[in-house]
Amino acid sequence: MKTHIITYGCQMNEYDTHLVKSELASIGAEFVDTVTDADFVLVNTCAVRGKPVEKVRTLLGELRKEKGKRNLMVGMMGCLAQLEEGQQIARKFEVDVLLGPGALTEIGRALEAKNRFWDLSFREELTHHLPPAPQGALSAFVSIIRGCNHHCTYCIVPTTRGPEVSRHPDLILRELQALKDVGVVEVTLLGQNVNSYGNDQEGFPKFGELLRKIGEIGLPRVKFTTSHPVNFTDDVVAAMAETPQVCGYIHLPVQSGSNRVLRRMAREYRREWYLDRIRAIREAMPEVVLSTDIIVGFPGETEEDFQETLSLYDEVGYDSAYMFIYSPRPGTPSYKHFQDLPREVKVERLQRLIERQKEWSFKRNGRWVGKTVEVLVRGVAKDEQYAEGHSRGNHPVLVPASQARHPGLYQVEIKQATPHMLLGEVAGATEAATIPLLMA
Ligand code: SAH
Ligand code: SF4
Ligand code: F3S
Repeated sequence: MKTHIITYGCQMNEYDTHLVKSELASIGAEFVDTVTDADFVLVNTCAVRGKPVEKVRTLLGELRKEKGKRNLMVGMMGCLAQLEEGQQIARKFEVDVLLGPGALTEIGRALEAKNRFWDLSFREELTHHLPPAPQGALSAFVSIIRGCNHHCTYCIVPTTRGPEVSRHPDLILRELQALKDVGVVEVTLLGQNVNSYGNDQEGFPKFGELLRKIGEIGLPRVKFTTSHPVNFTDDVVAAMAETPQVCGYIHLPVQSGSNRVLRRMAREYRREWYLDRIRAIREAMPEVVLSTDIIVGFPGETEEDFQETLSLYDEVGYDSAYMFIYSPRPGTPSYKHFQDLPREVKVERLQRLIERQKEWSFKRNGRWVGKTVEVLVRGVAKDEQYAEGHSRGNHPVLVPASQARHPGLYQVEIKQATPHMLLGEVAGATEAATIPLLMA
């Protein structure tokens, strides 16, 4: 079976694609790079905002046309597959295989089935799964907890991914050890809310304790995403600060700076709580790099509320931010109960927020000029004069390609900063981790 997989959405979906790929490989599937070469096209979908849903709709429409011309099987997996909205799309475009995010381990059975195969169950096997380590990769994702127990009123994820289920710590540690053994230098621990790791299982370590155990494996870089402010306890802060392998980078979504909006979003914290968490983090890790997610134009957001978001942005002084226009998602409480704001209002607020973000990112990136940072170089940049990589703080970094001919870890002296990245010169390679791979 010649298979082509197309992945939308977040890192959790990328990890799931890797998982499904390893299942497919074990039953002899061959992977191809284009739809034209494939006889099975699998689309891993996202439903968090309207845009990714539209993309999937368009793609599946094209694939149906292709199906009319030749023998082609089409599969749909991931978050949209779990929703009624997605299943309607799947029916319309004659999707053969449909697997929810909890049923990925069924892919083999799905392909053996003679007829249409749909499975939307949440299978326990998934959290017991141990995917093989990818060969030749320098960085990798590792899922530590699936699902989400929060109920943010705008968010479809708890519906698509179900309640929180932590993976067994032994399995996580084995997966990380295997990654280290094949030369991976950076892992990102994944979950919708990694800080609630262990809360759903008797006898599992809590997230802070897990971080410390992971530190002992000795991977050069450990990152994690995403954290919910409510669960970002002092214990997590201390574990981060005391475990040198854990990078000084935190993505801590705030969503809004207004208490009124936070309440309507059901975020379970107030602005003051969030700022206190930032204070605790900075006290323990003064150099920490901070990013966030912000939604603008949540229903009922007034200009005053939006000003509170801007003022919170200034108070924290984020290094970077992902900013989204509120997108009403059928099946969420805010879709049902609140009236969407006019698009012009939302767009105009987003533009003002982006301006603020650029100013801050420029200022915050500037603090690295003259300092030496560790960069994980991935390969040549678009502009082939440069090699590209990222720092422990997740900044994109460019260095002259002639100075970093192999992917790996380098010490880089930063010469220049823009709002989007750092530019530097290689000051030395970090011996242990510069592995001799040819540049891709
Ligand atoms: N579990 C993560 C994020 C999951 S979704 C967390 O809580 O941080 C990633 C981001 O998408 C969210 O942080 C939020 O900013 C954004 N998002 C989620 N639903 C949205 C919606 N309906 N409209 C716009 N942005 C949304
Ligand atoms: Fe969605 Fe909130 Fe859960 Fe994040 S914490 S996945 S925003 S419900
Ligand atoms: Fe999208 Fe699902 Fe991730 S909705 S953002 S792929 S958790």
